[in-house]
Amino acid sequence: MKLLVIGGGGREHALAWKLSRSPRVQKVYVAPGNAGTALESGLENLALTAIPELIEFAQKEHIAITVVGPEIPLAAGIVDAFQDAGLKIFGPIRKAAQLETSKIFAKNFMQRHRIPTAAYASFTDPSQAHAYIDQHGAPLVIKADGLAAGKGVVVAQTIEQAHDAINAMLVEKNLGGAGNEIVIEEYLPGIEVSFIVMSDGEHVVPLATSQDHKRLQDGDLGPNTGGMGAYSPVPFVSPSLHAQIMRNIIDPVIQGLKEEGIRYTGFLYAGLMITADDQAKVLEFNCRMGDPETEPIMLRLKTDLLTLIEHAINGTLDKAEIEWDHRAALGVVMAAQGYPENPGKGDVINGLTELMAEQEHRDEFHIFHAGSSIGEDGKSIVTSGGRVLCVTALGENVKMAQQTAYRLMDKIHFEGYQARHDIGHQGIHYQRKK
Ligand code: AMP
Ligand code: GLY
Repeated sequence: MKLLVIGGGGREHALAWKLSRSPRVQKVYVAPGNAGTALESGLENLALTAIPELIEFAQKEHIAITVVGPEIPLAAGIVDAFQDAGLKIFGPIRKAAQLETSKIFAKNFMQRHRIPTAAYASFTDPSQAHAYIDQHGAPLVIKADGLAAGKGVVVAQTIEQAHDAINAMLVEKNLGGAGNEIVIEEYLPGIEVSFIVMSDGEHVVPLATSQDHKRLQDGDLGPNTGGMGAYSPVPFVSPSLHAQIMRNIIDPVIQGLKEEGIRYTGFLYAGLMITADDQAKVLEFNCRMGDPETEPIMLRLKTDLLTLIEHAINGTLDKAEIEWDHRAALGVVMAAQGYPENPGKGDVINGLTELMAEQEHRDEFHIFHAGSSIGEDGKSIVTSGGRVLCVTALGENVKMAQQTAYRLMDKIHFEGYQARHDIGHQGIHYQRKK
């Protein structure tokens, strides 16, 4: 059968690659894709992004299932539109995607269903927001209600930073409509974990745990980014913490939505803070897989992803079995010069071709592409976005996966690339202590 994946980042390359490994899949179209999906056997790029055009294509080409990668098309109602056209698609409908597209919806929902999260208040009026800050003191976290491409959260360590964030969002409107309403929440100290599940609206299958690295520089310093690397599994998520997360967070979300008349079908990503007393609290929900978490997760997934998605669409995820490679996987992002503020484009990437040929018959690594495209000469691969590649490798533990990923990364070069050198540090530290 033929499938369609919507998106063009590392997440979509990893999802499409994994789907193409299913024995029942002839071809996976990726819209719009990148140089990695253009060159991967079994995948084909499609230069379409408008929903009506994608629907027309899916009908004409008899696409069996469409899988949505990013939040923007989900927020635009791509799932509702495909379903209205009688097409099978995996992702939450627009109403369910509100868990990500409105922080205020998510916080109020969690409060209604007693799901552990930071204490908060929401504001549209700047003077009330300023007064709240004066009353509570720093640190505090200021969040724009709407989607803001990773720029909507300010962790204010001082009261001045908090006031500045209010002014930027509510007065100067630097995030546009996304910042018309804001949430101010309690600062939670702890360790972050990404907990991603597949849901059919009733049953849930958790994917392997993972951890992202949001800051640009080693030691978790520098500006926030979309994510500079990730690994899976996270060794400090013990079986009891895992059970706590399922019981206190994941199950109440899916059941709570159901009670409110919303069936959540799709990937659901809970960004969690694990506090010092091993309590998990929700920082955010995403209505999709994480990027770069998807890359190491897909490298470890042994089960046919198509079968899992079919179960989710048919409401039979309780019958699904999921198997993981026992090894750890770790992905290092190579980002363009100037990222995240002003990423450069058009730099030639060297050293890739040999590795991409080698990975065809080796299972222990894969170079997933994000901001890459084929150069004007029709042969070279050039940078075309902020995060360019995610070099992902397996290893017996996090340290060994890290060593392989960095050894491979050293073979790849482009002008001014930026990468962290400590991806996996918390997991490695934990495994060393044990
Ligand atoms: P979000 O987009 O909501 O995940 O927030 C982006 C980042 O801000 C998170 O990955 C955390 O590092 C940080 N963050 C968000 N909310 C809090 C909080 N309540 N306490 C501490 N850090 C937070
Ligand atoms: N890696 C964080 C995200 O996908 O939102």
